[in-house]
Amino acid sequence: MTEPIRVLVVDDDPELRDFLREHLEEHGCAISTAPDGQAGWQILRSQGFDVALVDLVMPRLDGLDLLRRLKEEEEGGPEVIILTGHAELDTAVEALKLGACDYLRKPCHPPELAVVIRKAWERRRLSQENRALKRMVAQRLEGPVLIAESPAMRGIMRDVKKVAATDSPVLIQGESGTGKELIARAIVQQSARAGRVFLTVNCGAFQDELLESELFGHERGAFTGAVAQKPGLFEVAHGGTLFLDEVGEMSPAMQAKLLRVLEEGEIRRVGGTRVLRVDVRVLAATNRDLERETIAGRFRKDLFYRLHVLSLALPPLRERREDIPILIAHFMERLARRRPPKQVSGEALGLLVDHAWPGNVRELENLMERLVVFSEGEVIEVADLPVAIRAPGAARAAGEAESPSPRDEAEALSLKEVERRHIAAVLARSRGNRAKAARLLGIDVKTLYNKLRTYARAGDGLEGSP
Ligand SMILES: Nc1ncnc2c1ncn2[C@@H]1O[C@H](COP(=O)(O)OP(=O)(O)OP(=O)(O)O)[C@@H](O)[C@H]1O
Ligand SMILES: [Mg+2]
Repeated sequence: MTEPIRVLVVDDDPELRDFLREHLEEHGCAISTAPDGQAGWQILRSQGFDVALVDLVMPRLDGLDLLRRLKEEEEGGPEVIILTGHAELDTAVEALKLGACDYLRKPCHPPELAVVIRKAWERRRLSQENRALKRMVAQRLEGPVLIAESPAMRGIMRDVKKVAATDSPVLIQGESGTGKELIARAIVQQSARAGRVFLTVNCGAFQDELLESELFGHERGAFTGAVAQKPGLFEVAHGGTLFLDEVGEMSPAMQAKLLRVLEEGEIRRVGGTRVLRVDVRVLAATNRDLERETIAGRFRKDLFYRLHVLSLALPPLRERREDIPILIAHFMERLARRRPPKQVSGEALGLLVDHAWPGNVRELENLMERLVVFSEGEVIEVADLPVAIRAPGAARAAGEAESPSPRDEAEALSLKEVERRHIAAVLARSRGNRAKAARLLGIDVKTLYNKLRTYARAGDGLEGSP
């Protein structure tokens, strides 16, 4: 996007305003004007500008006061260049101290001014990038850790690496709480766009028109309430990645607009006529079965096919139970905050591994947090667990009137099952370190790997009696 530099000229001299407008537009600036500091302040607050050229002496609000307000109130506001008829050293120093980026004497020579404006614009872009980087570094230090121990998840991680090497849209499907957003972040981190802008929008959280203006922006006056022009997320994410969460909730009309961006790489603001080219990678997620939605006519086929080219299906947690002990160890560690993490007794762990986890990893994470807070001892025991997990058979029989499973299930475990639960417990205690777990179990690592692979193959069959 080679867009003009947006400049606001704040000066009480109408001739100078006209003169600057005329000459600076030749130098790639889009000029707006305000006759005094107060008016300038109003405009700057409601619209986006890259640079403000501000006269020093003006009625209502003078240049220094306007500068002071701008720097106090707004992070990421425009760069300010002070213009003055009678340059005095103290005011110049004062202006620079307040954060002005330059101080120029009238009369103005447009070519010279154009150079100063471009430098200011450059400085603004750098400080924007700098802020984005800082935010991302902070995020990375806290670091989203992605546990992927099960063969299923390791397969997903291999796919993540492959799709990260491309620039095409990716669809991430999976039940609620399976880690779709985490996977989206992992894709970005491994892609060439790592460290660039990454924005998320929940498509299910907006009504149609709002979503459209959120994604594509709007021009001033495009609809009631559009008092200022606003860039959309596709513009803001230019050069980076946009994560469209809950993409299955989009209306057919919005789906058509999304398809157009994906195919043409172009957007138009609501109420606007100009077509803007954007370079944005799109990642999308949904917990709906989009193929079924397509068949039911609720999701456009063409968009589905476009998104489906690269798609990842995250398995529910109950289909990758080997991840559970390690996830538990990971959450316990994270929740411990400088104290030694709480342990989970072998028996309790066995029950946790067997639970169906309809809310997937998020449910597990939430439960761990509750257990850390409410359990009394240093070890979480069976008695600390919620009934639904402690006595799944009873809960199921009472709640869903299914055929009751044997009440004495706990005593009727097969030898294999006991072994599996014990291995899960030891793995959790050794924080997923397999070499250590194997040592504790008195078997070699290869045997442990083989056993884990067998459990993985058994997949869902781990539930109930084997
Ligand atoms: N493999 C994983 N390793 C570590 N933490 C995970 C993993 N998967 C999910 N989580 C954690 O579980 C929670 C839910 O994950 P996330 O928000 O990515 O799920 P989601 O699929 O986007 O859910 P929803 O459909 O409800 O939006 C988050 O706190 C996330 O950090
Ligand atoms: Mg999510």
